[in-house]
Amino acid sequence: MIDVHFDAGRVPDYSGKHVQQLYLLRYAYAYAFEYKSIYRKLWSRMQHNNSIKVTSIGCGALIDYWSLAHVVNDDCEITYCGIDAVDWSYKFPRRKKDNVTYAIGNAIELLGRSPCFSSDVYVFPKSISEFSVLDVQKLSTYFSADSLTKDTVHFVITLRADADNKADDMKKASILYQRMIDCGFHSEDENNVCYRFSDENRGKKIQQVDNDFSHPWAVVNYLNDLYGKCSNRSTCGKSNSCEKRLGRMPILNCQYTIGQIFTFYRGKAL
Ligand SMILES: C[S@@+](CC[C@H](N)C(=O)[O-])C[C@H]1O[C@@H](n2cnc3c(N)ncnc32)[C@H](O)[C@@H]1O
Repeated sequence: MIDVHFDAGRVPDYSGKHVQQLYLLRYAYAYAFEYKSIYRKLWSRMQHNNSIKVTSIGCGALIDYWSLAHVVNDDCEITYCGIDAVDWSYKFPRRKKDNVTYAIGNAIELLGRSPCFSSDVYVFPKSISEFSVLDVQKLSTYFSADSLTKDTVHFVITLRADADNKADDMKKASILYQRMIDCGFHSEDENNVCYRFSDENRGKKIQQVDNDFSHPWAVVNYLNDLYGKCSNRSTCGKSNSCEKRLGRMPILNCQYTIGQIFTFYRGKAL
């Protein structure tokens, strides 16, 4: 029997197809919106580019690739290198003009084998929480003035919204930030500042602010009553905790959209 937790501190077994289905039905809509709004902010810093190269660490079903493709100019070609420990059964399709690769394995090991880092953007789409502080420290050592080939490098980290988890995620993000400063880059961003989409759209539903999103109500209602559909619920000993975990609504509003963007420039600030 599948046991599924998406609660803070519990990492679900994403290799299960049904876990992926529930995750995507519950979160794909909100996360796609979140990545779209944070990539839009990033893109405004990178205007007039006709290409962008992104390494997505913990990319899952490529939701953030979909979002990026909906933000960049039509003539912009995306090179997207996704890395995930799990080969997700569901992946967003790529546009013809883009070069999309998906490396399966532990990102810390795979990136450790890379002689250089040529991406413009390194993104953790809702994934930094699943890396330990030691993992992030190790990863940070791979970045150096020699291994990074670009003079401008962006880091995008989307965060969990509640205060304790956000603080944990930001602590890890600051390890990467400090490493970039230590290895000879500078930034106008501060590592304790994060971007909140809801500051501009307090209380609004995602579909009110972005026409790309219209969550089908049949899906919302189905998810809402998932526990009621379980045929084992009268006999299964875990049914109490299942009721709480399976009765969750998908995220439909903007208030959880929160992340950090750090842009680094090679050399010391003038
Ligand atoms: C919360 S999910 C986010 C997935 C996706 N980015 C999204 O937006 O839905 C975290 C992802 O990080 C991946 N992950 C966790 N630890 C990893 C590691 N050490 N190396 C590679 N991927 C990892 C998991 O397999 C999972 O797909």
